[in-house]
Amino acid sequence: MNVPSQSVLHPAGPDAVIIGQFAWVMFGAGALIFITVMALLALGVRGRPRPVRPMRWIAGAGIAFPAVVLSALLAWSTWRSAQLTPQSSQQSLAISVTAKMWWWEVRYRDKASGREVITANEIHIPVGRAVYLGLTSSDVIHSLWVPALNGKRDMVPGRVTGLTVHADTPGVYRGQCAEYCGEQHARMALHVVAETEQEFDAWLARQLEPAAPPRDAFLARGRQAFIDQRCGACHTIRGVTGVTGVAGVAGVAGVAGLVGEPRLGPDLTHVGSRLHIAAGTLRTHRGTLAGWIADPQAIKPGARMPAAADLDGESLRALAAYLEHLK
Ligand code: CUA
Repeated sequence: MNVPSQSVLHPAGPDAVIIGQFAWVMFGAGALIFITVMALLALGVRGRPRPVRPMRWIAGAGIAFPAVVLSALLAWSTWRSAQLTPQSSQQSLAISVTAKMWWWEVRYRDKASGREVITANEIHIPVGRAVYLGLTSSDVIHSLWVPALNGKRDMVPGRVTGLTVHADTPGVYRGQCAEYCGEQHARMALHVVAETEQEFDAWLARQLEPAAPPRDAFLARGRQAFIDQRCGACHTIRGVTGVTGVAGVAGVAGVAGLVGEPRLGPDLTHVGSRLHIAAGTLRTHRGTLAGWIADPQAIKPGARMPAAADLDGESLRALAAYLEHLK
């Protein structure tokens, strides 16, 4: 899908449908009242002057009308809100999302093996069922908002908030950080990939595997560059570098154990399989990866990623190709 949808007006799940109705009904009621008031105003300005009884107007248009309209809207929205999916961590699939300046860490726990998958900036969910997202932040307050799937929910350091997402239609839905969180708030996007149960299971199985070994000398050179540049100080490639084993310990408690060890950069074990890099900033391919590694500050000023200044051109190309092949 080329244009990921990010609109309240194009809901893709039951909760978003209800929120979309709120938007339309509130807009419709507001528009109707606005037009009525403007029409009365026009009549008052252009019509023949007629004596009016001010008390009748104040009682009718000033008190009774707003009271009836606002009470009706309140009653309707309260009734409709009660039909939203409850925010329960007891959903059959629970995913942990930690917001960081300025990206998203996403963790899955495989029920069968108990192993954990750590990825970034992309949440895969199966269609047709409610999925619980346990949300927290490791630095400042962020907010997760995928308008096509549900409303927004703040992500607060030291607390776990919950949001249930439920997609009925397979597709890619764009989301955005909805709480100002610093210099790169605008480039803190994420994508929810909703796919069939089989596609989701296959995706999770692939993500559980360690990084693909380089299949030729060029890619091996890229992997060596990753090690030599000490990219592993912030990034993990499972089976190559990074804090192996620690992830399992931190994630034992699942959603409750969200506030795990500090992790500075995204896990790159399967970075090539993700749609975007730098939290929705660029599509993933070797060209954008090379540009990002060479000068991340030109693309996303203030991001925690330093430039790989002493990397020669050939090694940079090899490193970008190696990361791209980590599907
Ligand atoms: Cu994170 Cu705005």
